[in-house]
Amino acid sequence: MRNGHILVVDDNEALRGLLAEILRTHGFEASTLGDGKAALDAVATDPPDLILLDVNMPGLDGFEVCRRIKGNAKTRLIPVVLVTGLSATQDRVRGIEAGADDFLSKPVDRNELIARVRSLLSLKAYVDELESAETVLFALAQSIEGKDPYTEGHCGRLATYSARLGERIGLPPEQITALRRGGIVHDIGKVAVSDAILLKPGPLTKEERAIMEQHPLVGVRICAPLKSFRLVLPIIRHHHEKYDGSGYPDGLKGEEIPLTARVLQIVDVYDALTTQRPYKRALSREEALEIMEAEVRKGWWDQRLFEEFRQMPVEEAPGTEERLPAKGRPTRERSLPESG
Ligand SMILES: [Fe+2]
Repeated sequence: MRNGHILVVDDNEALRGLLAEILRTHGFEASTLGDGKAALDAVATDPPDLILLDVNMPGLDGFEVCRRIKGNAKTRLIPVVLVTGLSATQDRVRGIEAGADDFLSKPVDRNELIARVRSLLSLKAYVDELESAETVLFALAQSIEGKDPYTEGHCGRLATYSARLGERIGLPPEQITALRRGGIVHDIGKVAVSDAILLKPGPLTKEERAIMEQHPLVGVRICAPLKSFRLVLPIIRHHHEKYDGSGYPDGLKGEEIPLTARVLQIVDVYDALTTQRPYKRALSREEALEIMEAEVRKGWWDQRLFEEFRQMPVEEAPGTEERLPAKGRPTRERSLPESG
């Protein structure tokens, strides 16, 4: 394994040169830059394994650079060490808010620098491994989605809009991440459902339905070993519960259903209604919202979340303009997302 490429960003030329020199003596690859803007460009084109970032720089300061790196899905996993002035508690608080992974105080102690860098790099190696496990799960989820041309893009839209609805109601960032992942993998348990059932155009028999209704539990079993998916498991397990307790697999009621699962559900039902399926045409936004409103009144979905969702801008799913001729309302059970 290579020792790691470290980017040193400091407006003080002598200091960044010195830090780079220490790192090189210990076998690391080091490059230097003098301002935040250049650092962001470099991180985007050639992501380093770790960044040492000075806090006080003209133009974009270290906090802002750190915030942008951590706010970008492609770069958020790169460890950032903020280099701050001595005893600057306030700087640390701001640094933590900006998402910094660690801090070094000036004047930088050579041994401390190397120790921090080593431990963060080995941590990153673990995270990278975890990331590849996540990538495998996403690929599996996508291959299940790909079986059915009618559901193309469904998971991606679900990830985007569930996260957006979660943000709207003020969920913390880790729950937003869980929603984004849940959008992709919530139906991963369908890998255990045969194509004959999965792609059946007509209504399911009682036995077939029983098999289909196993998919949340199978999904949890698949994703459970991944620790980073801890907050995704309740979403997978409970995305077919209903507010009045008539859903599955646990028949949870109202607020017993995890909030994130309720968020995903609203988006899932909407997407299923507004896209074409073998057994139904794609409904317009107005038609879909009308049906969902009736279902809220029936006691199926969370009213408050539905109202929030109704006010949220949602672009039409691709392909909805080519609607099948209307053949009346879809039958109740076939408009449910578990059927398609
Ligand atoms: Fe499902």
